Amino acid sequence: MRVLVTGGAGFIGSHVADHLLERGHEVAVVDDLSTGQREKVPEGAHFYERDVRSGCREGFEEFRPEALCHHAAQMDVRRSVAEPAFDADVNVLGTIRLL
Ligand SMILES: NC(=O)c1ccc[n+]([C@@H]2O[C@H](COP(=O)([O-])OP(=O)(O)OC[C@H]3O[C@@H](n4cnc5c(N)ncnc54)[C@H](O)[C@@H]3O)[C@@H](O)[C@H]2O)c1
Repeated sequence: MRVLVTGGAGFIGSHVADHLLERGHEVAVVDDLSTGQREKVPEGAHFYERDVRSGCREGFEEFRPEALCHHAAQMDVRRSVAEPAFDADVNVLGTIRLL
């Protein structure tokens, strides 16, 4: 199966991408590297350095995923309190744009 993993340069998403590749799936990662690290994206995964708020059209059109695993997030609780509009933009609108 072709799986698009957002946040695949972060903690949870990179482990998910690793396990999917180990099981023989094809993986593409979308991550803007805002908190993630390029080195965490597993070898063998396609990589798109993109903000999920863009909708990631290239990732969908080129890779043509059959499944989406969405782990990209603004996950800093203090920032979510200090900047609730930014938090909602990434976590709520970002998800809607991907879908
Ligand atoms: N770490 C945990 O223990 C834990 C527990 C429960 C739930 N979660 C949830 O899992 C998800 C991932 O958490 P994590 O711990 O891997 O965080 P993380 O910060 O390690 O990973 C998030 C990734 O998303 C990327 N990202 C952030 N904003 C982006 C954007 N606008 N466009 C593209 N990429 C963007 C970051 O660069 C990073 O690589 C979050 O929703 C978090 O709330 C995490």
